[in-house]
Amino acid sequence: MKKVKVLKRLNGFNLECSNIAPDKSISHRCAIFSLLSDKTSTIENFLLAEDTLASLSIAKQLGAEVEQSGSNIKIKPPQKLKEPEEILDCGNAGTAIRLYIGFLSGVDGLFILTGDKYLRVRPMKRVVEPLREVGAKIDGRERGNLAPIVIRGKKLKPFKYNSPINSAQVKSALILASLRAYSKSYYRESILSRDHTERMLRGMGAGVTTLDNGWIEITPLKKPLKPLNIRVPSDPSSGFFFAVATAITPNSKSVIKNVSLNKTRVEAYNILKEMGADIEFIEKENIYEPIGDIIIKYNGKLKGVRVDKNIAWLIDELPALSIAMATANGVSVVKNAKELRVKESDRISTILEGLNRCGIETKEFSDGYEIVGGELKSARVNSHGDHRVAMSFAIAGLVAGVKVEDIECINTSFPNFFDILTKITNIEFED
Ligand code: S3P
Repeated sequence: MKKVKVLKRLNGFNLECSNIAPDKSISHRCAIFSLLSDKTSTIENFLLAEDTLASLSIAKQLGAEVEQSGSNIKIKPPQKLKEPEEILDCGNAGTAIRLYIGFLSGVDGLFILTGDKYLRVRPMKRVVEPLREVGAKIDGRERGNLAPIVIRGKKLKPFKYNSPINSAQVKSALILASLRAYSKSYYRESILSRDHTERMLRGMGAGVTTLDNGWIEITPLKKPLKPLNIRVPSDPSSGFFFAVATAITPNSKSVIKNVSLNKTRVEAYNILKEMGADIEFIEKENIYEPIGDIIIKYNGKLKGVRVDKNIAWLIDELPALSIAMATANGVSVVKNAKELRVKESDRISTILEGLNRCGIETKEFSDGYEIVGGELKSARVNSHGDHRVAMSFAIAGLVAGVKVEDIECINTSFPNFFDILTKITNIEFED
């Protein structure tokens, strides 16, 4: 049976938080990239959530040995990747399936990747088509667009690929495949998508170079890479739910600690600042990428905003940003965001359905939407199995009293979300 959370109205709060969930994108990459070394990778603060545990258990099926002590893990790669006896289950994780498609298409063996009912309707041809062009043998339902995806791994040709979409999953899949090609490959995107893959692979010693003309040059591996040695920072996308909670609740302040400050990940905080919130970034260290604290203070009612640039830098935060837009003075517009339609749910329709239930007026476009700021009303909202939609409406509940149906999906990325929410409000719980 689906669970429902009922949230109460809230007065101001002060949150100092060092246990926002570890970064999901980086944790996936830790599990997968450790297989490119011949030595044990040491990963502290790995995200123990359904999505990233799926990547880790696939690494085990491919022969890795994992030693785990809480969220600290050691991954010892096999000498030679194993052809798995079973299907590889990516659960709800788009990152796991797309990165493993690229990774495995150049590995000798037969691999079958699938996922849950939500993942099985998400498009895979964005990685399958360019990989087929360089000789990959990949099939699946709808001629290879839908999982289950079957890969007969083989040596691939190099490529020069000017990607029509700004997607870190596509970029990463192709970079991983090209590491096993027989000569250098080149990849380009019109706007830099999150660049954890480039940074981490470079840190491991791979020849992944961004050239002055914007092309990424990838040199095939001649020998195994150095192992990863990393403490995963907190996830700015997870922290953003509490940034919005702070920006819409009078007399509130939050400090989100030890979070990635990578510019491709914190754009939503910049937009929230443009809407009027008081936001400060304090960089403290650099481990593969800049890491530090983000301080957010309530600063009066927010104002409407137009978001139509650098969409890849805030695509995951648009559900939560939409809650801020719904409470703002004036109209907000999101455009050039058709990628929202193929996330864990069709986020344009799930966000707008939820907001309409909360009494907010909206307009839908094929590549975005308009939100007329107003007063959120108490309502019952369905997440449609989408973790970010569930958490966004839980935050809306802080001002309006919202019942969020189907919240189990939150475990895919942020298992302690409600623990942190409990710190700042009273929660009633119903089944
Ligand atoms: C991710 C990339 C993004 C993002 C997803 C995680 C990644 O997807 O939405 O949550 O880890 O590479 P796209 O690259 O498809 O935009």
